[in-house]
Amino acid sequence: MCGIVGYVGNEACANILLDGLARLEYRGYDSAGTAIMESGKTGILRAEGKLLNLRKRVDEAKPAGTVGIGHTRWATHGRPSEVNAHPHKYGRVTVVHNGIIENHAELRAELESNGHEFASETDTEIVAHLIDDELRGGKESEDAFRAALKRVRGAYALCVLVDGLDDTIYAARHDAPLILGLSDEANYVASDIPAILSRTRDMVFLEEHDMAVVRRDKVVVKDLEGNEVERETKKILWDAMMAEKGGHKHFMLKEIHEQPRAVTDTIGDRLSPKDADAYIDGFEADPGKIRKLVMVACGTSWHSALVGKFLIEQLARIPVEVDLGSEYRYRDPIVGDSDLILAVSQSGETADTLAALREGRRKGARVLSIVNVVGSTIARESDGVLYTHAGPEIGVASTKAFTTQLVAMVLLGIHLGRRTGTLDHEQAHELITDLMRIPEQMVEVLDHSATINVIARRYATARDFLYLGRGINYPIALEGALKLKEISYIHAEGYPAGEMKHGPIALIDEHMPVVVITPRGSGYEKIVSNLSEVRAREGKVIAIASRGDPDIHDVVDDVIQIPDVRPELQPLLTVLPLQILAYRIADIRGTDVDQPRNLAKSVTVE
Ligand code: M6R
Repeated sequence: MCGIVGYVGNEACANILLDGLARLEYRGYDSAGTAIMESGKTGILRAEGKLLNLRKRVDEAKPAGTVGIGHTRWATHGRPSEVNAHPHKYGRVTVVHNGIIENHAELRAELESNGHEFASETDTEIVAHLIDDELRGGKESEDAFRAALKRVRGAYALCVLVDGLDDTIYAARHDAPLILGLSDEANYVASDIPAILSRTRDMVFLEEHDMAVVRRDKVVVKDLEGNEVERETKKILWDAMMAEKGGHKHFMLKEIHEQPRAVTDTIGDRLSPKDADAYIDGFEADPGKIRKLVMVACGTSWHSALVGKFLIEQLARIPVEVDLGSEYRYRDPIVGDSDLILAVSQSGETADTLAALREGRRKGARVLSIVNVVGSTIARESDGVLYTHAGPEIGVASTKAFTTQLVAMVLLGIHLGRRTGTLDHEQAHELITDLMRIPEQMVEVLDHSATINVIARRYATARDFLYLGRGINYPIALEGALKLKEISYIHAEGYPAGEMKHGPIALIDEHMPVVVITPRGSGYEKIVSNLSEVRAREGKVIAIASRGDPDIHDVVDDVIQIPDVRPELQPLLTVLPLQILAYRIADIRGTDVDQPRNLAKSVTVE
């Protein structure tokens, strides 16, 4: 939710912190701040709103210090304002935090009864008070930090500076991501890889309840008892350029156009046309022994799980349940050691998905995950990981993460289907051949988006949109509606087309654009009948249809064509026009496409 960056080195760090925060702004962007150590004391600069406001303050103040921490906020406790922006300082201690301190109210009451006065409404500020109390009680700073950590409950990624210590950042994590970046010249702390990728590729992923002492020339990771623990340093192969806009107006647009390359990377060398098989490294499960697969995910990743259910049940005939992460753990799910949990997440840090995964594991299930961010918490807590290799996704609205998840689902379907025997050599070979053509067909769709621009201009002022699809394209209707609402703020709903007559048809009049996903395949005739029902009520119909469909033009207002592909692969193409339509409408309306209001890229609180 919030983004953290820290630097200990020999360069003036203000711009290093701001550049890191710019790459973390997708995590939260209602206020931002830095604390930079100068002459043994931290100087704090904060500003409400976008990072630009903070940058102006930093440019005026020109702090020269070489040790500092920065933060970009997505408010949980206390409204977005300068006073609630991080860092928070009390006494000698300055803190930035991502997460929620659940027992903050009781700790605050206790501290207030001991004479502490609080400057903000945040849960974070109590951490500074707790550490400062321990320092006043005579503890060394590292012990004081550890003692405070033992008192807080909830989720935290924390970075702390202590006045007087001009070469040390203390860091800790529990249920919120935090990584360390290592180099010969300086060391770093960050919430996510892109923040420090232009400075180093050597990274350490802190684990639950780790704390770290980060100095210029040395980084030590410890447990909460103060014992040193070994953590592997990983070389990150992403290119720093991948986290830049590369000439595009927005990250979202860049990421939409990266999809052909991204899905090629997901396929990688996992497919063998000769053996008609898909290989999933590090995943060893006997499909014959899987009673059911339980997919847990949120938002767009949940939509890819819904497509995955369709694929895996078709290809491998294994029953699949799909659940929202936020619901799963609270319904006492029936799951056990003959089931496999499949957690799906771009960030690998979504708190609800993580909690669902843990609930499944607690009840004895094995866990596989489909994740983009290497080394993320969900990846680390899984028995096997199918990395999507989409590269960094910065735009808050997920695009390439989605299509690469869909490819991962097809790979998994082939892998399982070949082992359950429900997919024979010839069928698998044909599917693999078709899948390998998808990147070039994606390019074809993306290169012919002129019609979408015209449609976007026509409907950019609509108040509501309806999206309809059937079968494997029903989740694509949900995804199209989610994309539009999150970046354009137009109300949009996705429905299975057959369900329209059971209620949503009441909404249709001449002002309601209805986007229908209707490529050739089973259900085509039925969906065309649904369209007639919309048209009879003067609704405006925009169809996503297969190229060469001779009849569709007669029953709709606008047609966006896609190459004709087999149903299992259609979502990989049908979703592309919907992403572009949402993007164009949002851009015309002038909303903040990459950082839509109230949202955060990675939702690490429940
Ligand atoms: O990182 P995750 O895939 O676990 O994130 C899940 C959702 O928060 C995410 O897909 C969200 O719905 C996006 N904003 C959708 O564009």
